[in-house]
Amino acid sequence: MKVKVYAIATIVAGVIPALTGIATAQDTTNGAQIFKQCTTCHRIGDGAKNLVGPVLNNVVGRQAGTYEGFRYSPLMKAAGENGLVWSEDLIIQYIADPTPFLKKYLTDEGKADLAVGSAFMTFKLADEQQRKDVVAYLKTFSPGK
Ligand code: HEC
Repeated sequence: MKVKVYAIATIVAGVIPALTGIATAQDTTNGAQIFKQCTTCHRIGDGAKNLVGPVLNNVVGRQAGTYEGFRYSPLMKAAGENGLVWSEDLIIQYIADPTPFLKKYLTDEGKADLAVGSAFMTFKLADEQQRKDVVAYLKTFSPGK
């Protein structure tokens, strides 16, 4: 009997911190877990190198399509050249569906003629809370932003 009570107490002690973690608006710890889906293509942190996707250090505040040594799609380059600078909010929108996001950006800037082709990022993250959390995590690698 005593053993049982102890076991239940241990379980409850483990569950409460997990639940309070979910309650925060943007959770960098959860974001780090979600970022594992991005590491198929992206690296971040010390010594990060371009892979299928560009390095994401300092991405918040970066002009889109400008990480050194990475070959971007014409669509991404055009968006950057026409003023797209990554804010947290814009990254949250972009990762939901990259190609339509970039096409809409260019069209809104009066550059519908450049809104052609596809973005090179074929990944989409539908869940809004997951997008917010992963971008909160990215921001921790964009010092000063
Ligand atoms: C299947 C590979 C792949 C996955 C998975 C992926 N990306 Fe990308 N990402 C790319 C590629 C390729 C580009 C360059 C897009 C282009 O040139 O059109 C890119 C570009 C970006 C950019 C713009 C960077 C810049 O320098 O302008 C951001 C921000 C980004 N990705 C965030 C993410 C996040 C966050 C995730 C995970 C939720 C993710 N990506 C998952 C391949 C991927």
